[in-house]
Amino acid sequence: MNTINDVSITEIPKVHDERGVLAVIEKDIIPFNIKRVYYLYDVPSDSFRGGHAHKDQQSVVIALSGSFDVIVDDGKSKKRIMLNKPNQALYIPTNIWREIDNFSSGAVCLVLASTTYDENEYIRDYKDFILSVR
Ligand code: TYD
Repeated sequence: MNTINDVSITEIPKVHDERGVLAVIEKDIIPFNIKRVYYLYDVPSDSFRGGHAHKDQQSVVIALSGSFDVIVDDGKSKKRIMLNKPNQALYIPTNIWREIDNFSSGAVCLVLASTTYDENEYIRDYKDFILSVR
């Protein structure tokens, strides 16, 4: 079973010159084949997102703009990770409960996912999650 030690941050390579920064995500920095990309924007600062784990889906979360906190929880330990750089990629494996809060104004949260959307692979009840990782 995955633990929060399997959650990791990778730096996305970038090309910086006087015209700005170009960041590149190529398949070697994502540990799965991307099947879906979605993003959150216009998020009120007091909003609380996530609140689920995934049986099958691995994800990479990127703060494309602004900042927010991702809380990852393996049922035994949890940690709060602030994402505030568009070239930081947070990898979250399966069976990790995640919550996202503390959104800055203008924050955009990009998620690269290893699966297409399937509600059946979500665990949305925290008690069910705890039972599933015990
Ligand atoms: P939800 O899982 O609550 O979003 P978050 O994890 O960011 O808090 O999803 C919100 C709604 O969007 C819910 O009705 C499911 C739907 N949805 C899709 O239709 N497709 C998707 O790829 C995702 C991620 C969610």
